[in-house]
Amino acid sequence: MTERLLILAGGYSKEKEISLKTAKSVYSELLKEKKYKLKILNPDGQFIKVLRKYNPDIVLNLLHGRYGEDGYIQSILETERVKYTHSGVLASSLAIDKEISKLIFIKNKILTPKYFKYKSNNFSNKKKLLQHINKSLGFPIVIKPLNEGSSVNVYICKKNNFLRNLKKLKEYGEILIEKYIPGREIQVAILSGKILGAIELKPKRKFYDYEAKYNPKAKTEHLIPVALTRAQYKRITNIALKAHKILKCRGVTRSDFRFFKGKFYLLETNTQPGMTSLSLVPEIAKFNNITFKNLIKKILEDASINK
Ligand SMILES: Nc1ncnc2c1ncn2[C@@H]1O[C@H](COP(=O)(O)OP(=O)(O)O)[C@@H](O)[C@H]1O
Ligand SMILES: [Mg+2]
Repeated sequence: MTERLLILAGGYSKEKEISLKTAKSVYSELLKEKKYKLKILNPDGQFIKVLRKYNPDIVLNLLHGRYGEDGYIQSILETERVKYTHSGVLASSLAIDKEISKLIFIKNKILTPKYFKYKSNNFSNKKKLLQHINKSLGFPIVIKPLNEGSSVNVYICKKNNFLRNLKKLKEYGEILIEKYIPGREIQVAILSGKILGAIELKPKRKFYDYEAKYNPKAKTEHLIPVALTRAQYKRITNIALKAHKILKCRGVTRSDFRFFKGKFYLLETNTQPGMTSLSLVPEIAKFNNITFKNLIKKILEDASINK
């Protein structure tokens, strides 16, 4: 029996291009299987109309960022009673918000970098802001939007370039100012409520920024298996599994960590992790003998709606 799949890609976020690229590689993989009827859709104003007309068995959500990863599209799919992949409404909304998810991590004793939320109008002047940073966090710090992805508008700042970088984020009403954690960058994938594996990133650039993530010329090294003791590996993967569970995620997630002085700091849990050929979850899957196609099939198996 053929299954009708509607692949959602594109969207309105800053990660639109990445999502479209992902959809193409997923489409060509699934096409090799005769069992699917496939359609790629960029959900715009006509979305619900096209959805109803095509009447898919499953929606494969390959969107990233706002609208696609934050519970918005998920709530439309719930209302339309169509099964869809990845996390549901609540988990998506919680995980996309870096502040809310950090509060949940802290409440559940998961270590995350110290931070405060900054609104452009909640410090009377820049001197007070600098004083507050010096007192509460200390430089260097990381400034980042609350709900962006792909390292878009994430800046590591020293005291001398902080105010200049801060201006670059003025389009956001609120941002996070976080303590910079040196050390190693390790990411952990969870699939269907189980640990899939971990990978370490060694960027040649200053940090794992947009270029380091998506431009092969940036030559970020991917290290798998990750050089950790068995106990450390168990610890980091179990933190990722715990984060996946407490945020009530479904399907696949990828949690981003910094590892410094024997401690794992959870930066965030991504509910719509990248799936391009350079992406990490497919690489972790491959290392564990799960082909790209089988990874997608497993994600499809987890598709559901709220009962
Ligand atoms: N507190 C931090 N300390 C050190 N590096 C950080 C910190 N926050 C972010 N980074 C770097 O920036 C990257 C992107 O930050 P992250 O919080 O994961 O946001 P995004 O949603 O854009 O991926 C991380 O993978 C890491 O390399
Ligand atoms: Mg990240």
